[in-house]
This record gives sequence, structure tokens and C-alpha cells, in this order.
Amino acid sequence: MLFTACSLISVSAGAQSAILEGERFHPTTGEHGMVATSHYLASQIAHDVMENGGNAVDAAVTAGFALAVAQPRSGNIGGGGFMLISDENSGDVVAIDYREKAPAAATETMFQNADGEVVPERSRFTHNAAGVPGTVAGLSLALERYGTLTLADALAPAIKLADDGFIIPPRFAEGLEQSQDRLKQWDSTRKVFYKPDGSLYHAGERFRQPELAATLRRIAELGPREFYEGETAQLIADEMAAHGGLMSAEDLAAYHPSIREPVHGRYRGYDVYAMSPPSSGGAHIVQILNILEGYDIHAMGFNSARTIHLMSEAMKRAYADRAEYLGDTDFVDVPLEGIVSKDYANELRDGIDLERATPSQEIAAGDPLPYESNETTHFSIADDSGLAVSNTYTLNFSYGSGIVVDGAGFLLNNEMDDFSAKTGTPNAYGLIGGEANRIEPEKRMLSSMTPTIVQKDGKNFLVTGSPGGSRIITTTLQVVMNVIDHGMNIQSAVSAPRIHHQWLPDEIRVEDGISPDTLALLEAMGHTVSQQDAMGAAQSIRIEDDGTFTGGADPRRSTSSALGL
Ligand code: DON
Repeated sequence: MLFTACSLISVSAGAQSAILEGERFHPTTGEHGMVATSHYLASQIAHDVMENGGNAVDAAVTAGFALAVAQPRSGNIGGGGFMLISDENSGDVVAIDYREKAPAAATETMFQNADGEVVPERSRFTHNAAGVPGTVAGLSLALERYGTLTLADALAPAIKLADDGFIIPPRFAEGLEQSQDRLKQWDSTRKVFYKPDGSLYHAGERFRQPELAATLRRIAELGPREFYEGETAQLIADEMAAHGGLMSAEDLAAYHPSIREPVHGRYRGYDVYAMSPPSSGGAHIVQILNILEGYDIHAMGFNSARTIHLMSEAMKRAYADRAEYLGDTDFVDVPLEGIVSKDYANELRDGIDLERATPSQEIAAGDPLPYESNETTHFSIADDSGLAVSNTYTLNFSYGSGIVVDGAGFLLNNEMDDFSAKTGTPNAYGLIGGEANRIEPEKRMLSSMTPTIVQKDGKNFLVTGSPGGSRIITTTLQVVMNVIDHGMNIQSAVSAPRIHHQWLPDEIRVEDGISPDTLALLEAMGHTVSQQDAMGAAQSIRIEDDGTFTGGADPRRSTSSALGL
């Protein structure tokens, strides 16, 4: 009876389409391009660059500098990162590596005490926490090679924003309040992030950064080497000398970004390009996708217990390899081709039980074929000339080391904590490393940043990436899977609840929004499940078959913004 009653009131498929009901989340759309960043001021600035005839690289570099002003907790000139640029016309996808480097005087045991124990405070909150910053050199290189604007033009909106100031949004005020213990201990930091009377800024007030404006103006007038060899370099060297920091004027003068070949993989017919070492992101997103390609994930369903089980098993194995093999390829051999090979994925898949979790203690790094030849904030921008840019850059923690360079108005990163301070001792994200990621002079510390561009038949299709420390790789992975496996639009793909496994600790970390029944099934398979805070902020773009640009701003950041042209 009940069945009959329901049938009588159900709506026919034809009527449903006529009623125009549809998806739960809607992306922003654009005909000529799209920007997606973690801050509406940066998105608007990047949008205006393209509206005035600039290309996606012009917009990306301008946004990168603007974020250093509007969102100083992660936008930066005192940190570093990675930029992927895809040019459909030439078929080239290049990676600009502007990751920080260890100073020349750095030593393997610099963060250990006399008893050989790691003192985390040293790699996180002192002047020695900072690697030699790469952002100014990296963004300038991208502009010079692939942009059309002058550096002065790309810096102008950031300088204006720092001079005029902006109205503080709630997220900015909350960030300052949550980090005040760290920020208030340095005079130079207090001068920037506290009011002259020593009190905290509040939402709705205007925030100006005159010293940062002066630094950016010097770079605009004298070029990027000013940061590395001019007055700014001297201010950094003075800051270090005054506080026993190792970074010297020579370290700054010696810094140069590198152009690298991205890691390339194929997933269900799509080409996936992502960041190569010194990031682990590209290697492991491709490795995990290769393992998962052997299962019908679509049929298993989005975030079903079976899907999450297989994702977690693949993630565990990849993170075990990360701890063993990944490091800066300028210093160590990384078996990259082995790690991303389909054969190795088949081998790892054979070790996965469809019904039971393999405890992490039973998983050691695998045995990929030897290397065959020598070789946190994210934004995505795409234009209708065929260029797409995927950029992730960071200070490491929010506000990095918390130390502002006196007189220069910007924060120093604390990226040295991404090195393995001692084999087997986890870093701030719980990541374990060994020999390959030990501290060496002028070496780049291992990263998880995963700027990613997916192409379909040679056309840019998906531009994505995320902040989130160790969760970056798995967050980016899930945006790719949500689009390719689950057919989601880009806003749904970005908003959907996420999961994460990093081998150690041996637990699946989940966001809220996954059914308790599913979690119970996972526990019955032998998994430990831990529900924690939201993960990542994957500002992403999808380019549809008809050329429409769709943007997904990640709701996990209240200032996220996607704007179409
Ligand atoms: O390079 C890395 O992997 C880290 N330093 C990234 C830090 C990060 O994403 C912080 N943001 N949540």
C-alpha cells in the first residue's frame, strides 16, 4: 500500500528536469577565465589584471604579492613555494621551485640538544627556523618568463593595499588573537601586528603596513635581486645577526629558484601534472591514484566505507615511502620513476586486503625500482589563452616563525621544521623522515605542497591544490577523485567532506559529514577513525568541454573567493 501511495506522488524524470532542480553546490562561472584564491581582495586584484588584458601568470604573480599583504599568516615574501604553469598551446607544463633553502651554516643536528634530543622550539620559533626565502625570486621568474606585466605593475596593487590598508575581516582578527602568544614576544612583530597602544586589532578596523609597502616599493624599483642583495637583504642579515640566526647576506645572495619538470601520471585517461621534489606532493598523488585506478571507485561510491578503506590503504603505503625516499633531488637520489610507475602500484595493490585494514606497523616503505636517470595558501588561475597556474606557497605555520624582519615589515618562515631534525622524530605535522630529508647546507626541505593541473586530451581541465601540511596531498587527491571518479562539479568537489591517512599515526582522520554507519563499518574492518577539524582549502578551477570556466572557493576559509571573467 505504502509503495503504491509513494508511486502515485513521485515526480517523473521529465517533470523533474522541467522544474529545473539540480545540484546542491554551485560553482562560480566565467567565459574567459577564473581566479580562485583564499582571499577576496587577492581574487579581485587578480581578476582585474586579467580583465585589463593580463594573462593567468600576470594575475597569479600579482595575487601572490597581494596575498602577502592581505593575508600575512600565509601569503608571504618571507617564505617559499611552488608554481605549476600549463600552456595548452605549446603543450608545456613547467614547475617553478621557489622553496626555501637551509643556510650554508646549517648542520644536521642543529635542532638537537647536547643529548641528541630534538628541541622542536628551535626549528619552529627561533631565527634558525627560517629557510632562505624564495617567494620574491620565484614569482619574479614566473613573470619574466611567462607574464606580460612589468614587476612594478605586478607589485603595484600590493603596495597600494599595504599603504592604504584594508578593513580587517573576522578571520584575520581571529588569527591574530589565536597566535598572540607567539606574535607578541618580538618587538618587530608587535610593531606590525599590534596597535601602537599594544592592543589587538579587531574586525572592522583598518590595517596598514607601511614598512612592508616600503620593502615592496624597493623591489618594484630595483628588481627582485634587491630582496637578495640590497637593503632588504641587509635588514634580514641584521635581524639574524641581532638574534644569533645562521642566515647570512651570502645565503641570500646565493638564492635562486629552479625550473623543474613536474611529476606526470595518467589516471583513467586524464594527464595529471603535479609538483616534483623537493615536494613529495606530485610523487604521492600520482602513486595513490595509480593504486586506486585498479578499483571501480565510482561504483563503490563517494565516501562509502569500501572507498574510504581503499583510499586509506593506498595513502598509508604512499606516506611510508615518503618517509623513506623523499628529499631534495639536488642532494639525494629519489626513486621517483619507480614510485610513480604503474607496475609498482600493481605490486602495492596486491598487498591490500579488500576487507581488512593492514596495520601501519606492518607496512614499511616498499621497493620501487631504482631511479633511472638523474634528474600555505593555494590559488588557481586560468585564462582563455590556454594558460593555467596552480600555486601553493607558505610560511609553514600560520605567521611562520612569528618573527618580523625589523624595518622590513614581513614575517620569516619556519620551514626548517620540514626537515627531519632527527631520523624517526616527527615534525609538526607528525611526518617522519630519515636520511633523504636530513638537514644539509643549502638543501631544500621536503614539502607536501601539491599544486596540480589535470589535462584532458591536451586541454587544461582541472587546476587545484591546497594548504594543510601533511594533508595537502590527500586533500588535492580528493578534489581530483571527486571530479574524475564521482563526476562532481568543482564546488561540490571542493566542499565535500574529506578523509586523510598518513601511515603514522595509524588512523583515518575524517571531517564531519561522514555517516556514523560508515565509520562503524571502517572500524569493523580494523581501522581507527578520528574525527577532527576541517582539512585543507582547495581553491580550484574546472574547465568544461564547452570552454566555460567553473570555480570552487573552499568554504573551509571564510575569505575564500572564486571570480569568473
Ligand atoms: O611544505 C610543506 O609541506 C608545509 N610547510 C606546508 C605547511 C602548510 O600547508 C600549512 N598550512 N596549513
